Order: sequence, then structure tokens, then C-alpha cells
Amino acid sequence: MHRIVFLGPPGAGKGTQAVELSRTLGIPHISTGDLLRSAVAQHTPLGTEADAYMRAGMLVPDDLVLKMLQERLAAPDAASGYLLDGFPRTLVQAEALTGFAPIDRVISFDLPESILMERLTQRRSCPKCGAVYNLVTQPPKKPDTCDACGATLVQRPDDRPEPVYTRLQTYHRQTALLLEHYRRLGLLRPIDAEGSREVVSERIREAVR
Ligand code: AP5
Repeated sequence: MHRIVFLGPPGAGKGTQAVELSRTLGIPHISTGDLLRSAVAQHTPLGTEADAYMRAGMLVPDDLVLKMLQERLAAPDAASGYLLDGFPRTLVQAEALTGFAPIDRVISFDLPESILMERLTQRRSCPKCGAVYNLVTQPPKKPDTCDACGATLVQRPDDRPEPVYTRLQTYHRQTALLLEHYRRLGLLRPIDAEGSREVVSERIREAVR
């Protein structure tokens, strides 16, 4: 069984790689960012509360995210493994996670900040099917149009320069502490996340083996 966490700064390629690895391993890709964006789009009480934090590039409070994740992990498809993308992000979340979902491996993504900024500001996303593009490294075939479903691509509100800056600071202040936490537990497998998608995928497959 595979119970994996992807840990890394915003724009490191976690979501891109998680789509591929979850398919290869046959486990659900559970992204707390995607779950929260879907709650915002559906105007649920959770989405209404999370929206302002996300737009500003700040973390959504631990209690809200923990409840949401616990509910998601209770679904039958998570009974035989899962790939958590973007969770945990604080020590409180990491410690709570041990109480309801064991982890076998934490893959951390290493990447220089200049590349993160470029990846984030050039990212475009499909609001309908969630496909992710990059104007430089993975452009859609037709400008501003999703290859998969034909919807008009958008820039995430938190991919504008100011929230990107806050997200990077938040990562360094709150989430990077988890690297040492998981290193001490012997679960951490750092990977070099610079290079083409294919090259990074191969490094991740190697780290999971
Ligand atoms: P979330 O959605 O998790 O965002 P993030 O962690 O900031 O990560 P990103 O989605 O920005 O980047 P990524 O690493 O997935 O990169 P991607 O593959 O898209 O969280 C958003 C917000 O939700 C948070 O700020 C917070 O408010 C809230 N939240 C979420 N989880 C939370 C939690 N646990 N607790 C509290 N709050 C939480 O790639 C980026 C770009 O690069 C794309 O354009 C892609 O095409 C391109 N790219 C990818 N790989 C490559 C490559 N190898 N070469 C070239 N280009 C590449």
C-alpha cells in the first residue's frame, strides 16, 4: 500500500506530478488546495470562510482543513492508499494526521525560488476540469483554451505577484519546518524538482520504489 505526502513550496510541480503518480500507483490524488477551491466555487460555508485566506496567499485555519481532509480520507477510494498534495502544511496538521492517517513516505520538492516565481506567474488553470498549463513550458494548443474540455483558461487569483510573495513566505515560515520533522521520522525523500516533467517524474518514481 502507498501512503504518500508531497511537500514543497508553491509552484514546485506537486500537482502536476501528483496527477501522474496517482495514476501509476492507482491511488487517489487528494489535494487540499483543489478541495478548497471546489468549496469556494460551490459557495459552501467552508468555501466562504476559506476564500479570503486563499486570495491573500495565507493558510486556511488548521481546524477547517483537518475536518475537510478527515472527511475526504473516509471515502472508500482512500482505503487502500492515498497521495496527499499540499497537506500537511503546519506541525499541528502533521501531528493530527498521525492520529487518523499513517504516512509511509514524504517526497519533498527542491527548487530555486526564481523558477518557482516563473512557474507560478505563467500558470493558467481550467476552471471547469482543473487541467493545469504553463504559458512557457506547457502552453495550450489554442490560446487561453483548455485542450481537454474547451473552457477558457484563467489565472488563479493567488498566482498574482503579491499573494505569490505571501505564499512563499508562508511556506518558509510554517511549512518548511516539516522537512526536519519528517527527516527525524526517517520518512523524508528529497528530490530535485528542476528539469522537465519527465525527468522529475522519474526521480519521484525512484524515490517511491
Ligand atoms: P495549493 O493549491 O496546495 O497551492 P500550492 O501548494 O501553493 O501549490 P501550487 O498548486 O501553487 O503549485 P504546485 O506545486 O502544485 O505546482 P503545479 O504542479 O501546479 O494551495 C492553495 C491555497 O490553499 C494555499 O495558499 C492555502 O490558502 C490553501 N491551502 C491548501 N492546502 C492547505 C493546508 N493544508 N492548510 C492550510 N491551507 C491550505 O506547477 C506550477 C506550474 O509549473 C504549472 O504551470 C505547471 O504546468 C508548471 N510545471 C510543473 N512542473 C514543471 C516542470 N517540471 N517543468 C516546467 N514547468 C512545470
